[in-house]
Amino acid sequence: MIKRLWLKYYWLFGYQSRLYDWLTPESYRESMTRTLECIGEEPGAVWLDAGCGSGILIDVGAEKIASSKMIFATDILDSGIRIARRKFFEKGLVEEKILFFRSDLTSPLPIKNESIDIAVAHFSLYTIGDKEERHRALNNICSVLRQGGLCAVVNPSEEYDGRQIIRESLQTSLGVDSKWKHWFKKFVLYRITYSLGLKNIERRLKEGLWKSYSTQELCNEMQSAGFSIIHTEKVYASSGILVLGRLSE
Ligand SMILES: C[S@@+](CC[C@H](N)C(=O)[O-])C[C@H]1O[C@@H](n2cnc3c(N)ncnc32)[C@H](O)[C@@H]1O
Repeated sequence: MIKRLWLKYYWLFGYQSRLYDWLTPESYRESMTRTLECIGEEPGAVWLDAGCGSGILIDVGAEKIASSKMIFATDILDSGIRIARRKFFEKGLVEEKILFFRSDLTSPLPIKNESIDIAVAHFSLYTIGDKEERHRALNNICSVLRQGGLCAVVNPSEEYDGRQIIRESLQTSLGVDSKWKHWFKKFVLYRITYSLGLKNIERRLKEGLWKSYSTQELCNEMQSAGFSIIHTEKVYASSGILVLGRLSE
C-alpha cells in the first residue's frame, strides 16, 4: 500500500518537499548541460521545456534563457512548476521571458502552431508508459515547432543503471566539491538518491511501466514524428540517450 502510494505520488512528493532537487545526482545535471551544448548557441530563439519538472533547464541554462526570446515551460504537475517558477525569479531573469503553464503533453499544447524554435524533453516522455500516448506527446511537440526547428529528447537507455549513475556523479563530485561535501554525498545523500529515486526508476523501467530505449529505437520514434536525426549520444553515465532532431522542412 505504502509502496503504491509512494509510486503514485513520486514526483509530487519529490517536488513539493524539494527532495527531487536535493537528491539530483551530478551526472543528471551534466546530462542537461550536454543537451544544451548540443543544441548550441541560438540567441533570440523561442524555447519549449516539455515536462519541465522543477526546472533543471533553469538551473543549468539560465544564460541561454537570458539570451532567448522567450521560453514556454510546461508540466502536468503544478508542484514542479511552482519550484521552477521560484528558481526562475531567484536567477534574476525577467518575467516577460517565460510562460509557465500546466498541461498534459498527450493533448494538443495551448501554443500557436509552428511558433517554437527549440524544444527540450529531458527525461519526461519516457514516463508516459503507453506507446500511443507517448507518440501523441511527441507529435504534439512537433506541431508547435516551426519547420527546421530543433528538438532534443533525452530518455533512459536500456542499460539504465542507478549504481553507475552514482559512481559517475561521485567522480565528478571529487573534482568540484569540498572534501566534506564529497563525503556527505558519498555516504549520505547519494545513498538516499539511489534507494528513494534511482532504484524505483530501475524497477519501473524493468516492469515496463516507463520506457527505456536503444538509440535506434529512439531515433525511429523521432523519425516517424518527422525529425531528421542530427546527433545522438549516451549521457547520464550511459543510462540516458540524447537524440537531437531537426523538423524536416
Ligand atoms: C523525470 S521528471 C523530468 C523533469 C525535468 N525535465 C528534469 O529533467 O528534471 C519527468 C517529468 O515529466 C512530467 N510528465 C510526465 N507525464 C507528463 C505529461 N503527460 N504531460 C506533461 N508532463 C508530464 C512529470 O510530471 C515530471 O515532472
